[in-house]
Amino acid sequence: MTDRFAEVIDGLVARGFVVHRHWLDTPLRQALRSELLIRSDELQRSRIGRQDDHQQRPDIRNDQTLWLSGQSLQQQQYLQQMQALQQALNQQLFLGLRDFECHFAHYPPGHFYQTHLDAFRGQSNRVVSCVVYLNESWPTEQGGELVIYDHQLQPLAVVKPEPGTLVCFMSEDFPHEVRPSPADRYSIAGWFRRDRPLL
Ligand code: OGA
Ligand code: MN
Repeated sequence: MTDRFAEVIDGLVARGFVVHRHWLDTPLRQALRSELLIRSDELQRSRIGRQDDHQQRPDIRNDQTLWLSGQSLQQQQYLQQMQALQQALNQQLFLGLRDFECHFAHYPPGHFYQTHLDAFRGQSNRVVSCVVYLNESWPTEQGGELVIYDHQLQPLAVVKPEPGTLVCFMSEDFPHEVRPSPADRYSIAGWFRRDRPLL
């Protein structure tokens, strides 16, 4: 197993979340970012809730998203990396992960995602959440951070969406939010699941 997989696994075991600063190499990050920009008219306003209760709530989140399907070389490369991570997670932690779903996300300036959980115990098959950031750089001013909380809503980590950074956390255990962004903010948000998605 590679060191970077071991780092993610150790972090998940020790704290339940992990921030890896240079996960995506620059060419792959730039290729994914270019694809997101070129296809920006295909992005759709995001929704919240489960399949049968799926609604737009721009007061809660107002990013724009596009699911990855492996239709470009760079998508395939990213999905392959995450498949390798999935295998390592299953081998080391016996998580029984069977699939990975992910979408591009764009937060225009001022956009946000209020504090939420990605999975509710017993109600979802999302097990591990993973976000990578496709930004070229990130302004030093405040805003646009991912804030990870414990169940008492005490902040545990404030993560700037810096180029190539990966954040992984156990989906049921960490409420989190995206603070209003001062700039265009580009990412891929994804989830390892125990079943196959209904998409
Ligand atoms: C999400 C999410 C975090 C981020 O899409 O569910 O929490 O930093 N994203 O973009
Ligand atoms: Mn989330």
